[in-house]
Amino acid sequence: MLTSQIAYRLKSAVWISAFSFLLCVVADLVSPTRSQASDARHEMVAAEGALAADAGLEVMKHGGNAVDAAVATSLVLGVTNAASCGIGGGGFMLIYWAQDHKLYGLDYRERAPMTVTPASYLRDGKPDERLARTGALAVAVPGELAGLDAALRRFGSMRFSQLSRQAIRLARDGFPISPHLAKDIRLTAADISHQPGFRTVFFNDAGLPLQAGAIAHNPALAALLERLGNDPVQDFYHGKSAHQLVDYLARNGGLLTLRDLAEYRPIWRSPISVEYRGYQVYTMPPPSSGGIVLEILKMIESEPIAHLAADSPRYLAYLVPMMRQGFVDRSAYADPAYVKVPVAQLLSASHILQAREVALRKNRAVPAIAVVHDHGTSNFCVVDRHRNVVVVTTTINTIFGAKMMVPEMGVVLNNEMDDFTVAPGVPNAFKLTQSAANEIAPGKRPLSSMSPLIAFRDGRPVLAAGGSGGPTIISSVLQVTLNQLDFRLTPAQAIAQPRVHDQADPDMVLAESNLPAATFSALRQMGYRVKSVSELGAVNSIRIDPEVLMGAFDQRKGGGVAGD
Ligand code: GLY
Repeated sequence: MLTSQIAYRLKSAVWISAFSFLLCVVADLVSPTRSQASDARHEMVAAEGALAADAGLEVMKHGGNAVDAAVATSLVLGVTNAASCGIGGGGFMLIYWAQDHKLYGLDYRERAPMTVTPASYLRDGKPDERLARTGALAVAVPGELAGLDAALRRFGSMRFSQLSRQAIRLARDGFPISPHLAKDIRLTAADISHQPGFRTVFFNDAGLPLQAGAIAHNPALAALLERLGNDPVQDFYHGKSAHQLVDYLARNGGLLTLRDLAEYRPIWRSPISVEYRGYQVYTMPPPSSGGIVLEILKMIESEPIAHLAADSPRYLAYLVPMMRQGFVDRSAYADPAYVKVPVAQLLSASHILQAREVALRKNRAVPAIAVVHDHGTSNFCVVDRHRNVVVVTTTINTIFGAKMMVPEMGVVLNNEMDDFTVAPGVPNAFKLTQSAANEIAPGKRPLSSMSPLIAFRDGRPVLAAGGSGGPTIISSVLQVTLNQLDFRLTPAQAIAQPRVHDQADPDMVLAESNLPAATFSALRQMGYRVKSVSELGAVNSIRIDPEVLMGAFDQRKGGGVAGD
């Protein structure tokens, strides 16, 4: 009797778990057509994947806080959005901790191996940026797991093994390929399909790329995550995974050593902030580019814009020069351990005034190059019932990073070395020609465009936002923030608005093709070289009102909002 009851219960449990798994899969498959916005009262996650958002929410429903949820969400994104992020990469976590009413910034960006120098990226005596973009030399020391572990140890209330469960289950039992991931696999198939790791996970038996909706499995990653237990740093930076990673890279000409892994440390950094029209806006300091978003906000602040439309020529003709000047000043940004970055000076009233003047009379005679748009990197926002707020931007850099996957680990490796200046005058994958400040040096962290942001009003968090898309992160996060703070749009409306991007060099304004035709022609008549592009960046955001959370993901990339 007892045995049959147990058997019955076991059978039911299997069915229930299979059924709930199916529901999750179906939910993720329909995510692109799922409403991009959602409301909740207590807690919410907005992410670039419905399953990742659901995982974060589940954690909070079981008593976890926003940092616990951020760890679970990150790990799931590493499985389901493997072309953009994962434990082979690194990121930034901006945390507002309500109990002590303080902000914390965690930098778990990758760093250059200690044995690399600019000379490592010469071919036939000339700098070759491709070496920093694809292959073993492109791989910087991953920071993701060290960062998640540090965040959890400081603020978490749950154990790592509780938070990795959903990622393990998805990697082991299968996860649906999203339309965006399917596109990424197709785009990079020529580079990755011949590699056993990629081939096992992202291609079918005939060697063809998995289509959207197909179920992929990454058993090696599931086993690795399982093995991490409650001490991910031990295995990944000192143990079996460390050896597997270093052996794989050594076999492929890499320079990353066991010592690089053992010595990797995430860094707690004080967030930086400015006051903008009565809001206090916080972001990560360098090597993040959050300061550039703040600088552009301050340049814009001296003129009211709320009476203009967010897609009007007048507003955009005002915004674009400020954006361009912000990118000019980005040349001073780099790893603060190696270069003195004058953040306070760049945000000072006198500099803002001067930068504004320069912006408005800037000569734009620079040759044009098409900007590469890339959707590597992933962002998500979390708010919990205590009104703790976490914004995470995490990356392996461009699509599928270095185009290397360690087969026995199921881990895709970053190509974060490409975020450095390989040599003066040599543009990177995003056509950013960067300054000497960001040159390669052993142990240095490359400059990032990632700009997680939290805005406050009257001492209360009111807005969380962040994005992906290389340098378009800066312009996209900026515009989604302005669209909410100035134009009073909801997160969904703010994200849906057509965006523009100008990074100073090349001399070109990129504008999304759904910008009104009249705005395109007005900007061109004003002398702007405007190029129409299908999409710029992907942002998610949560508006935090006292009684309601309103979140949205970006349909440009797909995602999910889960709230309770
Ligand atoms: N790898 C993209 C960024 O950090 O900006």
